[in-house]
Amino acid sequence: MNSERFLGKVAVITGAANGIGLAAADRFAREGADIVAVDLHGVSFENVAKKVKENGRHILTVEADVSRQADWANVINQALETFGRIDILINNAGIFGLISRFEEIPVDSFDQVMNVNVRGMFLGMQAVIPTMRSQGGGHIVNVSSISGERGSARGTAYVTSKHAVNGLTQCAALDVIRDGIYINAVAPAPTDTDMVRLLENSASSRLNVDKEAARKMLEDSLVIGRYGKPEEIVSAMAFLCSAEASFMTGAIVPVDGGALAR
Ligand SMILES: NC(=O)c1ccc[n+]([C@@H]2O[C@H](COP(=O)([O-])OP(=O)(O)OC[C@H]3O[C@@H](n4cnc5c(N)ncnc54)[C@H](O)[C@@H]3O)[C@@H](O)[C@H]2O)c1
Repeated sequence: MNSERFLGKVAVITGAANGIGLAAADRFAREGADIVAVDLHGVSFENVAKKVKENGRHILTVEADVSRQADWANVINQALETFGRIDILINNAGIFGLISRFEEIPVDSFDQVMNVNVRGMFLGMQAVIPTMRSQGGGHIVNVSSISGERGSARGTAYVTSKHAVNGLTQCAALDVIRDGIYINAVAPAPTDTDMVRLLENSASSRLNVDKEAARKMLEDSLVIGRYGKPEEIVSAMAFLCSAEASFMTGAIVPVDGGALAR
């Protein structure tokens, strides 16, 4: 896809150094957007900077923990100082947390997942909305999961956080659509990034099989028989941020190879 539909636009992408966020930076830059890449202190921005520059676009990298309000203020200030506007927010940063039985989850681990996945997305939306409103509109995509619609015995904190992301998406969308701000979520099934390595490692030790066997088993368990590719998740994000999606807001869009159809 080499359209210029985001030319002149600025996209803030959290968790942009790896996985789905990295693919999003590549895609939005390829379609013309300048990128504000947000990720944790100490994480390498080298790959994302390379991809954005290869697409001929500008990148600003900002170290921030999305669960901290002060860090968001810094992201917005730097983005506006550098590019003068913010048109798109891809609220993507997320963590899985511990994979364990319900009663064994330490409360600190539960809090950490909720802080990053829920508080982080809440703060991100609160931070960008005033700028988008003053510009006459904008697009926000929150990254939920099929875990936002289904339970899972060993993923309580993650599942709970993604159910909350869906609620956040709907509430915020209803409140700001008359300001021209569109807010939707994508709900991916397991996608081939570092996050699924956690699931594979856990399955491998629980079932006493090697990592390749664990991966095959997990992929076989999906309706479509394979993980999603980050690029496939990002296609839906780009659509939701485009004029093609002008009658969509508050939607939770499965990008899941059929997982939620079952
Ligand atoms: N990979 C999957 O199977 C899958 C499936 C459904 C949904 N998702 C969601 O997609 C999103 C991206 O996940 P991914 O698979 O690309 O994972 P990933 O682990 O490959 O990348 C996540 C990125 O977020 C960053 N990050 C983590 N905590 C942060 C914080 N507090 N502040 C700023 N950055 C932070 C990490 O440093 C990393 O670069 C997450 O919200 C995840 O829940 C992933």
